[in-house]
Amino acid sequence: MNILRCEHLTKTYGSGSTMVNALNGVELAVEKGSFVAIVGTSGSGKSTLLHLLGGVDRPTTGHIFIEDTDIASLSEKQLSIFRRRKVGLIYQFYNLIPTLDIRQNILLPMLLDGQKPDENRFSELVQTLGLADRLSHLPHQLSGGQQQRAAIGRALIYRPAILMADEPTGNLDRKNSQEILSLLKVSNRRYKQTVLLITHDERLALEADRIITIEDGRIISDREVRK
Ligand SMILES: Nc1ncnc2c1ncn2[C@@H]1O[C@H](COP(=O)(O)OP(=O)(O)O)[C@@H](O)[C@H]1O
Ligand SMILES: [Mg+2]
Repeated sequence: MNILRCEHLTKTYGSGSTMVNALNGVELAVEKGSFVAIVGTSGSGKSTLLHLLGGVDRPTTGHIFIEDTDIASLSEKQLSIFRRRKVGLIYQFYNLIPTLDIRQNILLPMLLDGQKPDENRFSELVQTLGLADRLSHLPHQLSGGQQQRAAIGRALIYRPAILMADEPTGNLDRKNSQEILSLLKVSNRRYKQTVLLITHDERLALEADRIITIEDGRIISDREVRK
């Protein structure tokens, strides 16, 4: 079953002499439970693609379906709720809220929805993330690796349809990068979480099930990784 698919996706930024065609007709289907790496040189359109697929930005043309919802059909308000519940986003620089402690940061999507977390699930998640003894800390009191683990917790708290990570290890050393990758793999293998990972790191990409290469806003290669 495809959890995500897109058709004829294009994205143009600006107009006239500053116009950039960031995506030039991307067709993609992602199988539920798969772990997909997206690679490509800087400026090739990776982040643009992830933002469109995650409903952060809208395409110039084309359609995106997540669990059969055509996200173009949603109003801004519906889209923001959909994004909060169905898409877990992780960025290079964590994007935690500096004034909220780690517990509140992880629970933020639920707090915004006025939902009460399942405490059993929350404690299992923070155990897996290795953050159980850091819940009352503020983000700046944590290491980069710990902050990124908190961002993963926030992305996973709703059990999203898709976890999308844009260079999540770009700011971390090799040991912490490997730990972050291990967490993404655990969520993929143990909980069948679908993962889309943008990375520059060939070694990390090779741990995915499938590697998609983007160049000039087009998919130029799409291959399964043999284990
Ligand atoms: N907000 C924007 N306004 C104008 N051009 C943009 C914007 N975001 C990205 N671009 C351009 O679109 C192209 C693709 O960018 P991006 O998706 O960020 O690439 P990548 O993540 O692969 O480095 C680049 O040429 C970039 O300069
Ligand atoms: Mg990018």
